[in-house]
Formats: sequence, C-alpha cells, structure tokens
Amino acid sequence: MSQLEFDRVSYQYPGEDSDIIDGLSFSVEPGSFHCIIGVSGCGKSTIFRMTNGLLQPKSGVIRVGGRPIGEQKHYCGYMPQKDLLFPWRTVGENLALPLEIIGGYSRAQQRELIDDALADVGLEGCRDKRPEELSGGMRQRAAFARTMLTGCDLLLLDEPFSALDFLTRISMQEWLLGQWEKHKKTILFITHDVEEAIFLSGSVLAVTETPIRALAEVPVPAAYPRTRECLARPDMVALREDLIGVLRRQVRS
Ligand SMILES: Nc1ncnc2c1ncn2[C@@H]1O[C@H](COP(=O)(O)OP(=O)(O)OP(=O)(O)O)[C@@H](O)[C@H]1O
Ligand SMILES: [Mg+2]
Repeated sequence: MSQLEFDRVSYQYPGEDSDIIDGLSFSVEPGSFHCIIGVSGCGKSTIFRMTNGLLQPKSGVIRVGGRPIGEQKHYCGYMPQKDLLFPWRTVGENLALPLEIIGGYSRAQQRELIDDALADVGLEGCRDKRPEELSGGMRQRAAFARTMLTGCDLLLLDEPFSALDFLTRISMQEWLLGQWEKHKKTILFITHDVEEAIFLSGSVLAVTETPIRALAEVPVPAAYPRTRECLARPDMVALREDLIGVLRRQVRS
C-alpha cells in the first residue's frame, strides 16, 4: 500500500482564475525518499499544504496509508519553508509542540522524549536555549527533531536546507540520509538544488508543467547508502544536467 497517494487532486487559490494543481495523481511507497523539484511558484509547497490538511483540495482525494486524510489526525510531520521555530519559545518548548498537540504526555515524559530527540540530532544541552542562540544548521536540526517528534511515518520537508551555506548544507544532507536510514521514514523533500535532489532521492519527482497535472518520476541510478563521490559518476552528472534542462525549459515556457 502507498504511504501517500494523490488521486486526481485539483486546487485553485481563492481569487485566482485557474487551477494551480489540475487532476494530479501520484503515489509514494513506504520508506522511500523523493525530492520534488520545479521552478519557483509552480505549486510545490501547495502540494505539501494540501497533504498536511492546511488547504482543502477543490476535488480529488489524498490518502495516507490507504485512508483519506480527512478521516485521520497526526498522519504527517511537516517542516515548513520558513518560520521554523517560534522565537519566544526555548528549543525544548518548541520541540514540545507536537507532543502538546497529540496530548496525553506528562511533563516528565515530554522531557525525556525531547532530550532523546535532541541527542539524536546532536543538540544535547540546547534544550533551554532560544532559537536565536543556535546557528542556522543547528536550527534546522532542532526543527527536524520537532518534526520527528510527531511520531509520523510520513515527513514533508519544504526546502529545509536552502538558507544554509554550501558546506553546512552538504553535511546536513549526509546527516539527513543517516536519519532516514535509521528511522525508516517516508520523506518528501522540496528543493531547488538539483544536485541535492539527486544525492538524496531514490527517484526525483519533477514538475514539468503548470498547472501541475503530473509529476515526472526520474529514478536515480545509485544505491544507498550513498556518499558524495557518487555525484561525480558520469551517469549521475548526466542526470543532473538533464534535470537542470527540464527546469530551464520550464522557466522559458
Ligand atoms: N494564499 C495564496 N493566495 C493566492 N495565491 C497563492 C497563495 N499562496 C501561493 N499562491 C500562488 O500559488 C503559486 C504556487 O505557490 P507555492 O508556494 O506552492 O509555490 P512553490 O512551487 O512552493 O514556489 P517556491 O519554489 O518559490 O517556494 C504561486 O504562484 C503563488 O503566488
Ligand atoms: Mg515553496
């Protein structure tokens, strides 16, 4: 059974005269890692906002684990493109949010889960710090830990590393693949960085037209676990250039 399935889903923003998503169907398998690429403004974040229930499709059905999302609660973890952590809450209080939303955890249980999650992302000792006291990469890891604390198998990560410098970004990519291999989650990850998409994905889901009617699934010919050396292989370089070509054609059209 698919982890996530879009079944002829359409969406139109209020005030717009046409659909941005038009009869989109696609599905992803449990435990897979897909990056979604596409030009700015094509509707990638809209796909995530519908998946997590922030936006209601005009028509069609979205299923997670085979069941329509309207029948479910707490079925996906979402890391939005911006405004990752609340600045007025400490790191620990930020991580407590999903636990507060799910409910039923004592203070002591929350604290234990939060400390474990922080240790898992290499942020032990940061619980009582404010987000502003962390570096960009540390903030991203804290936000990821908060997403993991939702306990959901499906994680939606919207350009999580785009604001990071190159070296931090590539170490975060390696770190994320390690987390994915360890926790066996299903990850959808939006990025503008084609190399990042190739390094992370089992197959890349490319937006090739607007309105979005389909996602082109492009398999990545490298096995996991991966190291960055695979990016220098001729087949991977050719794939990167193909995908850049796909995006550039879209910018021109
Ligand atoms: N609340 C809104 N009301 C009307 N139009 C919107 C709204 N939010 C987004 N849009 C429009 O819908 C389109 C898709 O937005 P979306 O945020 O999904 O794009 P995106 O592919 O994630 O872009 P980017 O790569 O820049 O993040 C854009 O053209 C945007 O202007
Ligand atoms: Mg976006």
